[in-house]
Amino acid sequence: MDTLEAIRKRCSLKACISEKPVEPEKVRMVLDAARLAPSARNTQPWRFVVVQGKEAVGSLVDAAFFGPSAAVKHAPVIIVVCARPEDDVMIDGKPYYLFDVGLAVENMLLTATDLGLVTHPIASFNEAEVKRLLHIPDDFRVVIVTPLAYPSATSYEEAAKERLSQRTRKNPREVIYYNQWGNSEPG
Ligand SMILES: Cc1cc2nc3c(=O)[nH]c(=O)nc-3n(C[C@H](O)[C@H](O)[C@H](O)COP(=O)(O)O)c2cc1C
Repeated sequence: MDTLEAIRKRCSLKACISEKPVEPEKVRMVLDAARLAPSARNTQPWRFVVVQGKEAVGSLVDAAFFGPSAAVKHAPVIIVVCARPEDDVMIDGKPYYLFDVGLAVENMLLTATDLGLVTHPIASFNEAEVKRLLHIPDDFRVVIVTPLAYPSATSYEEAAKERLSQRTRKNPREVIYYNQWGNSEPG
């Protein structure tokens, strides 16, 4: 799969998680892709806690996830992405550490897609509980978590079909301008 294909096929699929274990080598590939992301002044502010195994995942989800997010309970792996605000590189008054973490997370999501694995970035969780259970230091924030799992359908494509068919994105004219703000005509 090339990069563009992975970008097009990636979607959030917490509803399609299989309990089938994910090979450690694939987990490593996903994490390595995250580590290779660029970051402001190469600070690499991200930290990842890999929660794996039925018991560890179950305890985490029971304690800290609610509503639809609890669907990730059956995932063999949950990756918890953390960062410390203190490690921020402020450029012209703008904080960049969350931006850097976002780049790393997108690398993870795309690599997982490439490997036929499903993901779903989730920000709704009880952060204090996640930190308590995983012994995350006080000065770190839990930014996002994602399950990493094989799809419950026969293939990634099958699992993603419905979600992709319902995908909504703003029109290019609303978000892309040429030469000056508001000009949607490429010329
Ligand atoms: C920072 C961030 C936080 C998110 N938090 C949640 C969440 O708490 N629960 C959830 O179901 N989806 C969450 N999502 C998934 C988005 O809803 C999803 O990415 C968006 O609807 C686009 O759909 P797609 O990922 O399938 O393209 C989150 C995504 C991002 C990037």
